[in-house]
Amino acid sequence: MDRRPIGVFDSGLGGLTAVRELSRLLPGEEIIYFGDTGRVPYGSRSRETITKYARQDVAFLRTFDLKAIVIACGTVSTTALEVLAAENPIPVLGVVAPAAEEAAALTRNGKIGLIGTQASIRTGAYERQIARLAPDAAVSALACPLFVPLVENGRFRPGDKVAEMVAAEYLTPLKEAGVDTLVLGCTHYPLLSAVIGDFMGSGVKLVNTGAACARQVARQMEADGTLAGADGPGVRRYFVSDSVDDFSRLASIFLGEDVAGEVAQVDIT
Ligand code: SIN
Repeated sequence: MDRRPIGVFDSGLGGLTAVRELSRLLPGEEIIYFGDTGRVPYGSRSRETITKYARQDVAFLRTFDLKAIVIACGTVSTTALEVLAAENPIPVLGVVAPAAEEAAALTRNGKIGLIGTQASIRTGAYERQIARLAPDAAVSALACPLFVPLVENGRFRPGDKVAEMVAAEYLTPLKEAGVDTLVLGCTHYPLLSAVIGDFMGSGVKLVNTGAACARQVARQMEADGTLAGADGPGVRRYFVSDSVDDFSRLASIFLGEDVAGEVAQVDIT
């Protein structure tokens, strides 16, 4: 049993997809979240910049006595997981392996679509993991850089005309390729699940990377005997690097509870 908190970070709102699933599976766990809202998006930046930002994110989170760090960000997971895992003495878990596992298990026709940021797609990290697990699968990968700003600006709800137009523009080649499984390789994208799902159709299964990662964290902590062992509700604290207002409003909508009193702004540089 380990009552220390779990640290979770992302460039912005996307990592809340992992927090929501962690809270559902492990309500007794304490979670410290950091969203680098002052510097989002990460996905259009160089490997060096992403690694520098990620190290600063982790250094901030480690001012708390954590039992594990969850990189709830596709861009950081594809770019800097190994570096961060090597530099920190506690488990550091990313989204790539759990999402690849779910995709490999879900596909029936062997045609898997993958969408992510430019940085994530450039690394080929998801394709390598999927190829290990499902060597015969064909992966069609596509960068969708406009999805993150849409989410950060609250344009993710079903019926949002701009989001629908951007989704149609990006996803048409994947629909035409006949994929039956689509990996939402950036943790922001599951906030657009309704829009993406409507366009792709009900025959296409969506892999929510944040939630897949949370499920793996829960399995691993159970196996390691490091769950808090509390019934909950565990404390949730949210830190951001820009103003708290937009984050609080959108996080409250997405998480389905008012988090305004739990959000604080910090300078991590
Ligand atoms: C971004 O900051 O560009 C998106 C983060 C992610 O890839 O999950």
